[in-house]
Amino acid sequence: MQCARIQPPTGPCGGSAGRTAAQAARVLRGRDGGGRRPRSRHPASERAGGRLLGCDRDAAAVEAAGRRLAEYAGRFELRQANFADLTVWVEPGSCDGALLDLGVSSPQLDWPERGFSFQQDGPLDMRMDVRQPLTAADLVNHASVAELIRLFRELGEEPEAARLARAIDEARRSVRIESTGQLAALVERAKPRRGRRRHPATRVFQALRMAVNDELGSLRRGLVAALAVLKPGGRLAVITFHSVEDRVVKAFGNELARDYVTSGAVDVPELRQPADPRVRWVCRKAIRPVPEEVAANPRARSAQLRCWRSADMARNRRTQSAEVRFGPALKALLICLFIGGPPWVTCARRISSTSSDARKRSGRCNWRSCASGMPNAQSNWLSWSRRSPRTPCP
Ligand SMILES: C[S@@+](CC[C@H](N)C(=O)[O-])C[C@H]1O[C@@H](n2cnc3c(N)ncnc32)[C@H](O)[C@@H]1O
Repeated sequence: MQCARIQPPTGPCGGSAGRTAAQAARVLRGRDGGGRRPRSRHPASERAGGRLLGCDRDAAAVEAAGRRLAEYAGRFELRQANFADLTVWVEPGSCDGALLDLGVSSPQLDWPERGFSFQQDGPLDMRMDVRQPLTAADLVNHASVAELIRLFRELGEEPEAARLARAIDEARRSVRIESTGQLAALVERAKPRRGRRRHPATRVFQALRMAVNDELGSLRRGLVAALAVLKPGGRLAVITFHSVEDRVVKAFGNELARDYVTSGAVDVPELRQPADPRVRWVCRKAIRPVPEEVAANPRARSAQLRCWRSADMARNRRTQSAEVRFGPALKALLICLFIGGPPWVTCARRISSTSSDARKRSGRCNWRSCASGMPNAQSNWLSWSRRSPRTPCP
């Protein structure tokens, strides 16, 4: 996880020192991985006065990121830590942006001794933080069949969860399953490929990795923590790599972007109470990498970026009281005037702005620029229609 902060760089959470938001940004990033791309992905770290805080559970990733960021010495702070524990070391309400980059890193997949990949033989490990005791081998050899079925279903969305769990159970009675190669071969025997491109063990490995590292638990706590360290109006961006984690992220955003609360477990529209949304969507739909990004980094093909702006609660309240005073009719008129055209023009712009293909073709939007608040970014239809196509993301 990383965070860039503003001058003075004396403590982990400095103030803006008179700089404008555009000049100086404090950006928090989750998961450094091998620290392979920080310079291109951290606008804050490139600006004099920016400060970057980052953490990863993997000591090797933190070390690699430190080497990569050496030229920004004094303006970044890296820790080996779970981003779920972010508020322990980052001051609440102090960051301009936070990015959680979920999933495993390329070095983790490429080094067989880490035990994440079914493509190379290595110990069945899968720990991001090697200080923790639980390994994938412990789970595979000691979890009950019912527990394995649950993990494969819930974390791997494996349709043949029961069959695979029973096959593992049968195999482990005669010999302990110690290596990734052993497990991959065992799964392939129980679930032959039958022409599928994907390795049959893909989902089983995903489920085990997520269970070993408690990835969903960390993600839920990490989202709350990342939002807590943002300033009002700060951006939270999350990159997910599969549907299980994306569902959690999307549900989190939907929940916090609601302008009402429900009483009771069932959402009855008549019983809703108005409430201030905690976040606003920057882009309603998840942003996918453009073909050039996938060509440059094929592992990004399944990536999805979701992005919110933390709501300014004080401003929310002012807007709400204005709405109550002026009423919806006047509000519609004001929106018309602000947009600078009659409603049908807005409507036409809305239609054109929601065509993602058109946006991709025009090159106005890509997911990186949207997360960083740089120009040429995608936005929701209202803010899009208020801006000329070449103006920055809201
Ligand atoms: C997709 S990689 C990040 C790649 C990195 N952004 C880059 O550009 O090289 C994911 C990284 O997140 C780390 N990670 C996973 N869960 C974490 C958590 N809860 N807290 C901190 N780091 C975590 C993993 O160890 C891994 O290094």
